[in-house]
Amino acid sequence: MTQLNRRAFLRAVGATGGAGAMLATMGALGLTPTAQAAAAREAAYRAPRTGDFTLTGRSAASVVVLGGGIAGLTTAYELGKAGYRCTILEARDRPGGRNFTVRGGDTTTDLYGHRQTARFSDGQYMNAGPARIAQWMITLDYCRELGVPIEVFTNVNADSYLYNESAGMTSPMRYRAAKADVFGYVTELLAKASDQGALDQALTGDDRERLTEFLKDYGDLGSNLQYTGSSRRGYSVWPAAAGTPGVVASDVPTASEIFATGVGRYFAFEFEFDQAMLMFQPVGGMDRIPHALAGAIGNQKIRTGCAVTQVTDKGDGVRVTYTQGGRTRSVEADYCVAAMPPNILAKVPHNLGSGVQTALEAITPSSAGKIGLEYRSRWWETDHRIYGGITETDLDVTHIWHPSYGFHGERGVLIGYYNTGANADSYAPLTPKEREARAVAAGVKIYGEKYRSELATSFSHHWRQFPYQEAAWHSTPGGPDHPRYKPLTEPAGRVLFAGDWLSYMDAWQHGAFSSARSAVTAIHQRVLA
Ligand code: PHE
Repeated sequence: MTQLNRRAFLRAVGATGGAGAMLATMGALGLTPTAQAAAAREAAYRAPRTGDFTLTGRSAASVVVLGGGIAGLTTAYELGKAGYRCTILEARDRPGGRNFTVRGGDTTTDLYGHRQTARFSDGQYMNAGPARIAQWMITLDYCRELGVPIEVFTNVNADSYLYNESAGMTSPMRYRAAKADVFGYVTELLAKASDQGALDQALTGDDRERLTEFLKDYGDLGSNLQYTGSSRRGYSVWPAAAGTPGVVASDVPTASEIFATGVGRYFAFEFEFDQAMLMFQPVGGMDRIPHALAGAIGNQKIRTGCAVTQVTDKGDGVRVTYTQGGRTRSVEADYCVAAMPPNILAKVPHNLGSGVQTALEAITPSSAGKIGLEYRSRWWETDHRIYGGITETDLDVTHIWHPSYGFHGERGVLIGYYNTGANADSYAPLTPKEREARAVAAGVKIYGEKYRSELATSFSHHWRQFPYQEAAWHSTPGGPDHPRYKPLTEPAGRVLFAGDWLSYMDAWQHGAFSSARSAVTAIHQRVLA
C-alpha cells in the first residue's frame, strides 16, 4: 500500500469509526509504535547457535577477523555463539578501534610523531570516539546482553550556550532564550500571515483556527498574536520565596536582531533520528563495550600489535599475513571477515579483484578531532548552572561538551572541541600544547577566564592523523547499496567485509554492529548450506 493510499484509507476509517477504530486499523497496518517495533524486530537478526548444526552433518568453521574494532569484535562474538573458531588480528595494542576512551596513563603517538600521555585524574575520562547512543540503536541491545551499565548522555540542554562570533555576538546566549525568541517571532509572523488571510488557499477556516491556537502556545504569543518576550527566556532574578516573584530577562531582541544572530540553525539537530534525546552512554566510558565483547570472546583469541600485510583467497580457504613485533607471520582459516577501515584495507595487497579495490578506494576518509580539558573545579555547574549538554559555536572548536557524568564532583573533563573537516585538520598539525592554547582561547570568549585559570591538563586526539585508522568515519558516495560497492557487500570468494562504512549508519557503532551481523549471517548460512 502506498503512503497516500494508507493515509486516505485511515482518514475514511477515522471519519466513520472514530478514534478507537482508527487506532485498531493503524495497528493492523503496522503503524502504531508497538507494531513498528515488532516490524523492526521481524527483519531482525538471529544469532548463530550450536544447535543449528544438529542433523546437518556440518560443523562450525574457522574465521580470521581483520580488525578488532566494534565490527570485528562483534563478528567473533556472534560466530563464537555457534562454536566458530575465530582469530582477531588487531594492529593497535588494544581492541576497540575508534571506540577509544582515554584515561590517565594512556599514551598515543599520531602520524606527526606527537606523543601524548594523558594525565587525567582517577575516574576522569574522555570518549575520543563514539560518545552517545540513541535508544533505538542495537548498541544498547549489546549493552544489555553484555551487562554494560548505561546512563543518560545529555545531548541537548536548555541552559547550555549558543555563540556565533561571525554574527557579531559578544556574549553567549542560552539555548532556552534563543529558542524562545526565534520560535516567538517565527510563530508571530506565521500567525499574523494566517490571520490576514495569506494562507487561505492552503487552509480551511477550522485549520486556520487550530493553527493559530498551536502557534500562540508554541511561541508564547499574546492575544494580539505578538511576541514580547517570555519567562521561557529565563530570568535576571530567579523566582524564589514569597516576595521574590523573579524578574524575567528583559533584553528581548527584535525579530531582525535574533534572526541576524543565526542561532536558529542549531535547533533542528535534536529532531534527527540519530541525535534526539534521550541518549545514553556506558557508565565509566564507551570502551566498556569493546572490553565486554573482548571478555566474552576470550582475550587469547585477539592478537594485538598485528598489522595485516596481505590477504589471499586460496579458493578453499584464506591466508592472511601480518607483522607482529617486526616478524612476519601468517594465519589460515576457512573464511575471513575484513573489518578494517576501508582506507587502510585499500593499502593491503590482496587477490580479491579490481572491483574490491575500486570500491575501497571510492570510500573516502573524513576528519574529526576532540580535546579533553580536565578542570580543577566544575565551574560550569557552579557558576553557569550547566549540567551536561553541548554549547554550539561557529568558532573552529565547533562543539563544546559538558560532561554527562560526575556531576557535583570535584573535577571534570570538558570536551573543548569536537570539530570535523577543515577545522579538525587545522588543529591536527599543532603540538598538543598549541591545540590546548587555541581551544582555551576560544572557550574563554564564551565562558570567561576560569576556562583558562581552572585548567589542570588536556589530551587531544585526531582520527585522520592516527595510525591504523586515518579517518574518523567515511563518506560512501551513493550509499552502501550503490552498485559500485557490490564487491564489498557480497562475499569476495571466502572474504567478507564489515564495518559501519558498509551501513546506512556510518559513524555510529550501530552501523558496525549491524554490518557485522550481516557478515555473520552470510557465513553461517553458507556453512550450513
Ligand atoms: N556519530 C557521531 C556523533 O554523533 C558522528 C555523527 C555526527 C554522525 C552527526 C551523524 C551525525 O558525533
